[in-house]
Amino acid sequence: MSFDINGTNFPQAPRAGQCLRTFLRELGHFGVKKGCDAGDCGACTVLLDGEPVHSCLIPAFRAEGRAITTIEGLGNEHGAHPMQQAFLDAQGFQCGFCTAGMILTCVSLNQAQRTDLGAALKGNICRCTGYRAIEDAIRGKSNVETGVEAGGAFGRSLPAPAGPDVVRGTARYTFDTEVDNLLHIKLLRSPHAHARIVSIDRAVAMAVPGVHAILTHEDAPAALISTARHEKDWMDPEDTRILDDIVRFIGQKVAAVVAESEGAAEEACRRLKVAYEILPALIDPEMAMAPGAPLVHPDRTGANRVADAQRNLVAEIHGEFGDAAAALATSAVTYEATFHSHRVQHAALETHGGLAWLDEAGVLNVRTSTQVPFLTRRALSNIFQLPMDKVRVFCELVGGGFGGKQEMFVEDILALAALKTGRPVKLELTREEQFIATSTRHPMRVHIKAGADAEGKLTALQLDVLSNTGAYGNHGPSVMFHAVSESIAVYNCPNKRVDGFVVYTNTVPAGAFRGYGLPQSVIAVEAAIDELARQLGINPYDMRRRNIVRPGDPMLSPPESGYHDVLYGSYGLDQCIDLVERAMRTDAPQPELSPEWLIGDGMALTMIDTVPPAGHIADATIALNDDGSFDLTVGTAEFGNGTSTVHRQIAATILATTVDRIRLRQSDTAHGGHDTGAYGSTGIFVAGKAAQAAAMQLAAELKAAAAGAWLCDVGTCTLEDEFVVSGVRRMSFAEIAKLARETGRPLVAQGNSQGTPRSVGFNVQGFRVAVNKGTGEVRILRSVQAADAGVVANPMQCRGQVEGGVAQALGAALYEEMVIDAAGRITNPTFRDYHLPSFADVPRTEVLFAETSDTIGPLGAKSMSESPYNPVAAALGNAIADATGIRFTGPPFKPDRLFPALHDKFGD
Ligand code: FES
Ligand code: FES
Repeated sequence: MSFDINGTNFPQAPRAGQCLRTFLRELGHFGVKKGCDAGDCGACTVLLDGEPVHSCLIPAFRAEGRAITTIEGLGNEHGAHPMQQAFLDAQGFQCGFCTAGMILTCVSLNQAQRTDLGAALKGNICRCTGYRAIEDAIRGKSNVETGVEAGGAFGRSLPAPAGPDVVRGTARYTFDTEVDNLLHIKLLRSPHAHARIVSIDRAVAMAVPGVHAILTHEDAPAALISTARHEKDWMDPEDTRILDDIVRFIGQKVAAVVAESEGAAEEACRRLKVAYEILPALIDPEMAMAPGAPLVHPDRTGANRVADAQRNLVAEIHGEFGDAAAALATSAVTYEATFHSHRVQHAALETHGGLAWLDEAGVLNVRTSTQVPFLTRRALSNIFQLPMDKVRVFCELVGGGFGGKQEMFVEDILALAALKTGRPVKLELTREEQFIATSTRHPMRVHIKAGADAEGKLTALQLDVLSNTGAYGNHGPSVMFHAVSESIAVYNCPNKRVDGFVVYTNTVPAGAFRGYGLPQSVIAVEAAIDELARQLGINPYDMRRRNIVRPGDPMLSPPESGYHDVLYGSYGLDQCIDLVERAMRTDAPQPELSPEWLIGDGMALTMIDTVPPAGHIADATIALNDDGSFDLTVGTAEFGNGTSTVHRQIAATILATTVDRIRLRQSDTAHGGHDTGAYGSTGIFVAGKAAQAAAMQLAAELKAAAAGAWLCDVGTCTLEDEFVVSGVRRMSFAEIAKLARETGRPLVAQGNSQGTPRSVGFNVQGFRVAVNKGTGEVRILRSVQAADAGVVANPMQCRGQVEGGVAQALGAALYEEMVIDAAGRITNPTFRDYHLPSFADVPRTEVLFAETSDTIGPLGAKSMSESPYNPVAAALGNAIADATGIRFTGPPFKPDRLFPALHDKFGD
């Protein structure tokens, strides 16, 4: 057999049954990605005789004799293909994992298809961008600024440094590397929601040719851990073993098979004989604390940081100031309702996975798709009793995270397998495993009571929240804390009460997810504010203006965190409300709609602390190179959040140079220093501050070096256009580097940020919707979000974060939902059945920025990756209520959910 791939003949033959995707990757075409292996995402798109196909669906042998084009073969000797250049100019990507497939599909579009991009791109999913930047690329619109002068990078729309590699398919993600002598891991997972493993018979499975090891709870360390990664381990309960003899949800790891091929490992998994003693399972979180309910972790105690294992309580939070009940009794108006949020998945296109090996120095290397390499190293060091310098964890580009990779789901198994076998090992989760066995958003039941006086001033806010953390408590307590904190701390109100319960169930664990508890509570709080306003005849914007915190006001929620370092580093909430109200009032073209469509407007606001509490640490190092350029090293990871662009902008601005003179190294524990991780929107606010501190220190040293040579007062020296300048004297950075080398003191500076004090950021979302009273269909007619990101470090990227956050939240608010049956089984663990938003599903969102400058954040900037998600479902719920007069209390707002109430109210 022979295959024509990118104009080159390959004589290799595929294995029997092999798909074209894996065949192409094995031949080194790493631009062909895997998002689902089921034809649902388009990450594997290649051209076959010029036509885009999902290579995961094509048997490799069928491509024989046909021209195969992968992203690597799209350009030619003259450079990038025009579509690749268009994606660069528009920056039509964030994490970049979908980009190769997206570009190949776009290349093939004819004029007719370009007029209906929703249909033309239905086979290619992007989880990050919200598609606007992709449309810009197709339409030939450039979003990047060029000709930015030295020292002028901050605040400009500069492109991502990885962009050229992303569009050419040469960017390297976790598995885009050759590893010799590799063994493959496959996991046997529990078919039972709750069971004790009585025995595992490995004999038949071990006989499968190529099997090297079968790892079970008997091989795993006994240590109790949490898969959640936080700077402070005490934030999460210790309730998890790498491999346990009790399984607590369908999908939990039972055994790991390590074999020469994935096929052998899968076959051995099938042949493992496991005897289970079935235990009663708790599926319904409402039953968790009832007497006689099955206990999920009966042996855990306070010593494991589990609040009350005999009531399935991981954590509970209570607090009150004032007297909420008394205030409600005397309020002019009150509102009370129960909201239910559902289970949704991050659905990052790159699944969890990694590679591990022992090097010649005996160092355990783990190359993985993570947001937290340093915290993962610390965990592996503790679990396997290895010195920290004997563990290295690193990542290259990460194909999306959204909080789902602030966990250790695979690295522990990888380490165990590498240490047991002494061979390099690989574990790459399938899309189904991603759904059934990683983490989800915490489903919550939020009961709210709220009151206001006749003037519209809030008198009482009361939240009673039940959070379902699933089988393990990773992130459970801290997600609850955020859910009941910023959601009500943004409002002045003299009487507030909070009761929060985080319960175990025998279902897939929940974990960190963009917004971290706020979307679930904000939908109830913002509905209550709207309903009180409606009763009083006050416009929703004015109702909020009467009650929001202003600079100087305390930001109060009853649960006492013990941390008092949240300040108004800047304040743009008032601007955001004004911006959205003004935009929603301006005329915009609307489609012609028949009378069965009901039109309504809604808005919601949110506040978020710019850093999680209890410490978030980042180190940065910057060194002057001989040619006057700089090497900047940070620990934080890039997963589409844009920090690798902004860190260079910060350093280039302070050092009066251009971003192309700043070379960035990141997310590798071998580089030294520490970084808590890329979560809680800290990439700019914490790691960016460390980069700022390092650059400022180096700027001072550059000036001191020149002043020393000139024997002048260092106070007369400034940095300008890659020179130190004092009066008429100028010394280039390259000359200073030469001087430093001659004196044996190369110029290197360190920076650090401890993540305190913290500031607050704000987002306000507005929607105009049309709801079909006959079918329950919801259409978005207008979407506006105003964001207070301080000084916007990179307007193009920041806008993309808002658009992507809105798109992801709209998916969850309108149709995404993990369905769990009565036995605890997820019945829709595929993209096809889960319904990720495609191009046609996502409306254009108008993004507006408040003009503020933060006194705490780096160069005035604040965070803006996480928070755009938070007000979306709440604003949508308010808009639907405005349109229909019906308050729907549980997303997703699907037609079948809306239809019964609409039918009751409006008839046929
Ligand atoms: S990997 Fe082929 S369509 Fe998703
Ligand atoms: S950029 Fe499209 S999935 Fe991340």
